[in-house]
Amino acid sequence: MLATITMRKASDAEEIARLILQSHAERRVFALHGELGAGKTTLIKGFCAALGVADRTSSPSFAIVNEYRRDTDEPLYHFDLYRLRDANELDGIGFEEYVDSGAYCFIEWPELAEGLRPSDTVHLLLEASPTGGRTITITTRK
Ligand SMILES: Nc1ncnc2c1ncn2[C@@H]1O[C@H](COP(=O)(O)OP(=O)(O)O)[C@@H](O)[C@H]1O
Ligand SMILES: [Mg+2]
Repeated sequence: MLATITMRKASDAEEIARLILQSHAERRVFALHGELGAGKTTLIKGFCAALGVADRTSSPSFAIVNEYRRDTDEPLYHFDLYRLRDANELDGIGFEEYVDSGAYCFIEWPELAEGLRPSDTVHLLLEASPTGGRTITITTRK
């Protein structure tokens, strides 16, 4: 299945995130594709807000994974695989256990975890549009 949404400005992230969550209510793993500056971290902040994370959320620049708490006390995981040297490092942090845990997982640079992502991952491709906004193309394989 394929759908496209426009995120006109960064401050629309939470509303867009809500929409994506509502239309994929059974899904827990979201892979965010797109170049540097495409808006992946911005959208993940929107997901965090929509899912009741009160902490300040930022890109996990040094850690591969950041854990947040939702207001339901459930964890939420934000991965940034940009600085990953090789896929073996994912075994080291227990990547598969996170994505199989049933908690929400949002993954930046998911290409580096190819083969380790669950088959019901929702793929979001973010691209700058000529009008300054971002186009989000949503793909699910199941
Ligand atoms: N429509 C939009 N959606 C998301 N980000 C936007 C948008 N318009 C401008 N931006 C800006 O683009 C930058 C995106 O950065 P970021 O989310 O860190 O990207 P990435 O994580 O993909 O590298 C932010 O400074 C954000 O404010
Ligand atoms: Mg980022």
